[in-house]
Amino acid sequence: MAKPTVLHIADVPLVPELQNEFIAKFEHYYIWEQKDRGRFFQEKGSLIKGIVTDTKGWVNKELLQNLPNVEIVSSYSVGLDKVDLGLCKERGIVVTNTPDVLTDCTADTALALLLACMRQIPAAHRYVCEGKWPIHGDFPYTTKVSGKRVGVVGLGRIGAAIAKRCEGFGCKISYYARSKKSDYPHYSYYNNVVELAKNSDILIAACALTKETTKIINREVLDALGPKGYVVNIARGPVMDEAELVKALVEKRLAGAGLDVFVNEPEVPKELLDMDNVVLQPHVGSATVETRTEMATLVVRNLIAHFSGQPLLTPVDM
Ligand code: DGY
Repeated sequence: MAKPTVLHIADVPLVPELQNEFIAKFEHYYIWEQKDRGRFFQEKGSLIKGIVTDTKGWVNKELLQNLPNVEIVSSYSVGLDKVDLGLCKERGIVVTNTPDVLTDCTADTALALLLACMRQIPAAHRYVCEGKWPIHGDFPYTTKVSGKRVGVVGLGRIGAAIAKRCEGFGCKISYYARSKKSDYPHYSYYNNVVELAKNSDILIAACALTKETTKIINREVLDALGPKGYVVNIARGPVMDEAELVKALVEKRLAGAGLDVFVNEPEVPKELLDMDNVVLQPHVGSATVETRTEMATLVVRNLIAHFSGQPLLTPVDM
């Protein structure tokens, strides 16, 4: 029987064992560049049965109209904001993602960013590398993290894992979500992000990117957090009004920020590049060897399950 043909529109690194299994079970093509697509679609578009994508690849009308026989989209991510789930549903295309396996590392990243920006760890590192030592108090005092009031925007798997870690720092946890979560009666619930910000020292964005959460952290929220407040974003760039965030930092209406994600990745607002109170990462919240291996395994196992008629491991509810 002919092997199903899979198109990678994203670079999903596979460990050697997985790579061998993948090659044995699938025909596959890698098309990352937009310019290479037209001809490929003409020649091979109708052969493609599966798509492998990640947080960078758009699976939208423009792509899917060239691939009439796609049955499955397997995403190397938990977030699916670049996948048109409505269209997939309409076309009967199943979608899988990689939940759970990345929860711990993404939550760890939020804490790392929080500590790094509040304690100015990158600046301290640079200072030591420059051969300096603070003998006359010339390295600034930073801000205590323990005991602060943390507001989590989105208390899903990752938000809850962040909250749990913050509890370990003696922080008081509040959260915003569409509805109150019965599993967390000891956290304060706000159905309004401005109110959450007014009652927080630190705001951590951990929600999925949807129409409702786009720019959910806007100027009003940042002003409610105030000049002593810190923001961490490990969710998606567009949940933040990035222009307002930059303004608030430049005008010192906000104390600092730890950011793993940006609106127009890989572009990062240049104003943020040399601020000691701002720590930046290139969207690597889940990027540890352990987690990425588990994510890649799920991507392949879901494809294998689909094409062998087995239940999917992590199907997306649509
Ligand atoms: C995800 O899986 O959505 C993450 O952003 C990838 O690191």
